[in-house]
Amino acid sequence: MSSPPTLGIIIPAGGSGKRFGSTQPKQYLPIAGIPSIVRSITTAGSVPGCTTIVVAVAQDQKDVVLSLLDEYGIMDQRIHLVDGGHERAVSVGHALQHPSIREVELVAVHDAVRPLASAELWDRLVKGASVHGSAIPVLPVVDTLKRVADDVIIETIDRSTIRRVQTPQVFRTELITEAYRVGMAESWYGTDCASLCERIGVPVYCVAGEEHNIKITTPFDVLVAELFLTRN
Ligand code: C5P
Repeated sequence: MSSPPTLGIIIPAGGSGKRFGSTQPKQYLPIAGIPSIVRSITTAGSVPGCTTIVVAVAQDQKDVVLSLLDEYGIMDQRIHLVDGGHERAVSVGHALQHPSIREVELVAVHDAVRPLASAELWDRLVKGASVHGSAIPVLPVVDTLKRVADDVIIETIDRSTIRRVQTPQVFRTELITEAYRVGMAESWYGTDCASLCERIGVPVYCVAGEEHNIKITTPFDVLVAELFLTRN
């Protein structure tokens, strides 16, 4: 069996968690006793081929992260902390500049607030990106979608062509590096890494995401994540 491609994993964890309505950024919230960021870093560390993990953290939270790594016994030579930025994309941009990223074939970006991504999902994405140059996890939309203005429907959108997008998102290193070079130079941030790649014309390949790979955004998400962990 051939060895897996070398993989650098970037974990943007620089958010303030404003939408959650708590003083604690949501990446530090315990999910069934273990903070989301610890779960995300632990899973990242076990992905085959992973040689570096670069975590983007707000400057005033670095000590918090270091003590969590210590407390959960996951301090690892592969883990590096860099400064977060004022937008997710800026946090990722900082992480991409870490010297260890230049050494890897593939770069994965995975939100600290998605603690439930499985090893199987990581495997699908790494394989997809190895073949196609990029791979992101997507899910179909089950609700009917409408565009509205001032609480009035403007149109109904054909949901069959719409996908919900998750992380991890995996790219050949030179593709994501170039996408971020252009995006940062033009202060164009998007809401995920794929959008910066799309913007420079890089085709982005979709693989099946996972329903349970939720993004912890509201207290309800914590309930769902904990229920999932208890049942599994
Ligand atoms: O803001 P959003 O919910 O999309 O955040 C997704 C991920 O990006 C989270 O893990 C969050 O900590 C991170 N983030 C970041 N820097 C920011 C904003 C968000 O690293 N300025």
